[in-house]
Amino acid sequence: MEQTLVLVKPDGVQRGLAGEVISRLEKRGLKLVALKLMQVSDALAREHYGEHVERPFFPGLVSFITSAPIVAMVWEGENAINLVRKTMGTTNPVDSDPGTIRGDLGINIGRNIVHGSDGPESAPREIGLFFRPEEILSYERSADPWITEP
Ligand code: RTP
Ligand code: MG
Repeated sequence: MEQTLVLVKPDGVQRGLAGEVISRLEKRGLKLVALKLMQVSDALAREHYGEHVERPFFPGLVSFITSAPIVAMVWEGENAINLVRKTMGTTNPVDSDPGTIRGDLGINIGRNIVHGSDGPESAPREIGLFFRPEEILSYERSADPWITEP
C-alpha cells in the first residue's frame, strides 16, 4: 500500500493545528502508520529540501523548518501521495481551493502549515529521512473494508 510523509510545519504546531491536519487526513480515509513530535536539525532540513538548494527562498525555508517543533507522520492508503497533496492544496495558500488545508487555514506561501511528499520517488526517500523502518507500523482497522473496497 502506498505511503507518504506528512509534516505539520512549525507554524501549524504553534497555531495548534496539528490535530486539525491529522483529523482531515483521518476523515479522508488514510491510515496513520507513524508519528512523532520532533525538532528538525539543520542537516536534516538541508537534505529534506535539497532539491531547492539553489532557490532564493532556501535559507529562509531551512531556518523556518528548524525554528520550532514539527509533527512528522507517515500516512498510508490507496493513492496516498496524491490524496494528501490534494487535501493539502496548492503550495501557495492564496491559490489553494477552499476545503483544502492550506485553502482553509493559510494565507502565505512561507507559512503553509503542512508538507506532503510530491511523488513516488520523493515519498520513500523522505520517509527514510524521518523514520526508522521499525517506527512504521502495520495494522488492521475494522473500518478498512468500509473505506476501500477489498
Ligand atoms: P512542501 O515541499 O513544503 O510540501 O511544499 P510544496 O511541495 O507544495 O512546495 P515546494 O515547491 O516543494 O516548496 C517547498 C516550500 O518552500 C516554500 N516556498 N517558498 N517564496 C517562494 O517563492 C516559495 N516557494 C516555495 C514553501 O513554504 C513551500 O512549501
Ligand atoms: Mg515539495
